[in-house]
Amino acid sequence: MFRFIVGFLVFAGASVSAFAQSLPIPSYWLNQRGSEMKLYPVNPPSPGSFTGVYLNHAAGFKIQSSPTNPPYSVTGHASSANVTFTVVWNNGVQNCNSTTVWHGHVNGRTMKTHWVLTGPGIVPPLRGTDIFQQQP
Ligand code: BTN
Repeated sequence: MFRFIVGFLVFAGASVSAFAQSLPIPSYWLNQRGSEMKLYPVNPPSPGSFTGVYLNHAAGFKIQSSPTNPPYSVTGHASSANVTFTVVWNNGVQNCNSTTVWHGHVNGRTMKTHWVLTGPGIVPPLRGTDIFQQQP
């Protein structure tokens, strides 16, 4: 019986890891608000860590990316299918004094996230969901 349980646990663990998705880096993502995100490895390489750029095209927010407004930096970390990334909304040209943190998970070419937007002028914090699809 003991050997059966151990065998089952090994099999279950192997199955979970076989189906766990990891974040592909480099990769390019588009969310349902039209925002774009490009992700790159960090230099020097660090397991799970990534960097990137974010172009906000979501309506209803102060910041709108355009050819005259450079992208905003992304910093993040991925562990198995779980992903967390942050954008500080200051690119040196437009500073919104705000920060968004996304938490989510990757499943194939889809990343479902919850986000929180905080800042001194954002009380209470704004919360929402974003679904990113890997491009192309
Ligand atoms: C701000 O207006 O303070 C900064 C821009 C915030 C844009 C938010 S972040 C969450 C949501 N998803 C997007 O792609 N854009 C908005």
